[in-house]
Amino acid sequence: RELYGVMGDPIRHSMSPDIHNDAFKRMNINADYHLFHVIPAKLEDAVNGARALKISGFNVTVPHKTKIMPFLDEIDELAIAIGAVNTVVNRNGRLIGYNTDGPGFVRGIYEKLGTPLTNKRTLIIGAGGAARGIYFSLVKEGVTQIDICNRTLENAKSLIKQCPYQVASEALSFEEALKKIAEYDLIVQTTSAGMSPNISGLPFEIRGSLQSSALVSDIIYNPLETEFLKQAKEKGAMTHNGIDMFVYQAALAFEIWTGRTPDTEMMRNIVVTKLG
Ligand code: ATR
Repeated sequence: RELYGVMGDPIRHSMSPDIHNDAFKRMNINADYHLFHVIPAKLEDAVNGARALKISGFNVTVPHKTKIMPFLDEIDELAIAIGAVNTVVNRNGRLIGYNTDGPGFVRGIYEKLGTPLTNKRTLIIGAGGAARGIYFSLVKEGVTQIDICNRTLENAKSLIKQCPYQVASEALSFEEALKKIAEYDLIVQTTSAGMSPNISGLPFEIRGSLQSSALVSDIIYNPLETEFLKQAKEKGAMTHNGIDMFVYQAALAFEIWTGRTPDTEMMRNIVVTKLG
């Protein structure tokens, strides 16, 4: 029986075992997915333990996504650029790291829109780790215009400087972004503002009109509809919550591990039921 899991601290509340174990069962794959509570001081030991135990693959979550990188044998190009690994696969004893968070976000948006993202004029709100993964993944997907707005302008500027791929990007303050908010086809909210338990939080109040065809996506999934998404909906935009990013990062990890595509609708149902 193959062994999979997720390393994090804390880890109790992870929904990953629910969705992966269900997919293994449905697809008759003889495997189990476990929670591994790994404290920072034991991360290297845990990675070596995974090698020794021939664990087939694992996810990596907070606070280990960057710190794990030196302990792996090989890291995919996009994960290196993002500077974070959330998925590790064991190929003949070699542990190879990937990042499926950013690509999972992109896949979720693509499935929602059903059209290529290449021409979407995009605004990312926030310039932290989540923004970085989404930004580089969107650029890699071929999106050519992506502005970044952030509470601390310097952080937006420095994120743009670090992008290893070709893209037209401007760093904006929230005020500057609001002035041109009607120009964007895709707006992605990546800050923690509005996340449970501080559900009244917002990166900024949306003023002015949005395009009616604009898609506003918030990577938060608890609550399912943030204040920011409520405001975007009131302005007539389409909205999208963070469940897809979670589901598709898992689906892409599952594909890396097994070479097979899980039923993402089923994964989404499990997450929604658990949250509800
Ligand atoms: P993550 O890995 O989840 O992205 P992070 O790397 O700590 O977390 O990044 C947090 C991001 O959310 C940053 O862009 C931060 O803005 P600053 O660079 O100005 O710190 C943003 N952020 C956090 N709380 C916020 C709030 N209440 N309003 C606006 N932006 C916020």
